[in-house]
Amino acid sequence: MSAPITPTRAAEPDADPRTLRVEGERLLHRLHELGAVGGTGDGGCCRLALTEADRYGRDLVSTWMRDLGLEVTVDAIGNVVATRPGRRPGPPVMTGSHIDTVRTGGLYDGNLGVLAGLEVIETLIEHDVETDYGIAVAFFTDEEGSRFAPDMLGSLVYVGGMSVEEARDVVAIDGARLGDELEAIGYAGPTPCPGVVPAAFVELHVEQGPVLEQEGHTIGAVTEVQGIAWYEVTVTGQSNHAGTTPIAHRHDPLYAASRIAVHVRELCSKYGSHQVGTVGKIDVHPNLVNVVPARATFTVDLRNTDAGALRLAEVDLWRFCDHVAAAERVHIDVRRLARFDPVPFHPHVVEWVEATATDLGHSVRQLPSGAGHDAQMFARVCPAGMIFVPSAGGVSHNPAEHTEPADLTAGADTLLQTLLGIAGVVSIGGVPVGPGWDPVLDHPRAPEEQ
Ligand code: GLV
Ligand code: MN
Ligand code: MN
Repeated sequence: MSAPITPTRAAEPDADPRTLRVEGERLLHRLHELGAVGGTGDGGCCRLALTEADRYGRDLVSTWMRDLGLEVTVDAIGNVVATRPGRRPGPPVMTGSHIDTVRTGGLYDGNLGVLAGLEVIETLIEHDVETDYGIAVAFFTDEEGSRFAPDMLGSLVYVGGMSVEEARDVVAIDGARLGDELEAIGYAGPTPCPGVVPAAFVELHVEQGPVLEQEGHTIGAVTEVQGIAWYEVTVTGQSNHAGTTPIAHRHDPLYAASRIAVHVRELCSKYGSHQVGTVGKIDVHPNLVNVVPARATFTVDLRNTDAGALRLAEVDLWRFCDHVAAAERVHIDVRRLARFDPVPFHPHVVEWVEATATDLGHSVRQLPSGAGHDAQMFARVCPAGMIFVPSAGGVSHNPAEHTEPADLTAGADTLLQTLLGIAGVVSIGGVPVGPGWDPVLDHPRAPEEQ
């Protein structure tokens, strides 16, 4: 007698997270919708930190977060975090960036990292993906530092590098107190700072420089952020008549400031090819055609990937200020606004980003970041890294800032796959994934060793 035939069902094939992709059109649409908030009519936008425009941008993005059913928290310095839980309890893997802009901002700086994070989470919800670690997307207060120094203030407070009290007392370039402005826009939240340390942090951002475009790469795996030193220099001289005061009798603060500004440009060639220096803001009093000014106040931004060279450039600036003060017989006061040493990213996160982008078929290279970013603050407390996409013409902090839609999508897909690898995937649509989707975090090895 032949054996009874038991009906069998073909086993479900394993679900494969590698097939997941974001919806690029939806991301682009949100970038334009957010870009219209504080729109400047020339393709750019102005949402200086904690202004009314910033409030409207925050309200819009928070609404999108809540519409996805995420748990949204606002902390004591106004950082907003939206979390989608994973299988295991405890801190999530975090992504995010900022939505404040400089006065002449573009559509992508910061906004891309926040909205791509949201897009990643929406993709996971749509495909019913259960991750092992939860995934959170955040936007941090006052990343730009244009209105309230230092830059990256919100993420600095989040990781415990500055107290809430000190941050709330920072005074803006327009004289407003940060704490008052935070309350005025309704974003002094109840969640305490420092915040919960995430399991890891990965930020997508536009490069804001020319390297990826010039070399024909779609993705940058960011190795480090260069060191940053910001100063405010106040030169006080003697206000006098422009027609009657002989040159030898003048104590002209604007002449002294101009000499220092020229020196900032010239010192860059002395401290290695990575030294950059900028005088981006100057105020003159009384600012009249026929008056030798009484006072000039300006900012200096010095940056270098080499910590020692940056320190030398700073000392050079201070010495030159002393020299000019003596020569023009003016008083010069140098106040530090911000200072961050160069920050290396976690080598395994850098390699993971590179391997992920390569798997997706993108041309990728490692490179340092010239701009400051929230991810550099998280590097103090957890494995952190960044993904860059090209900036057309290397232009940023400019309404003309542009990244091709295909590159935006490539960056968001790289973020999606990087986060999935780091957080681990349990199932898709209830179907368990095949082997190899344990969180990379549980195996802190370079991808090629796996
Ligand atoms: C901040 O984004 C900076 O790098 O200036
Ligand atoms: Mn930015
Ligand atoms: Mn910026």
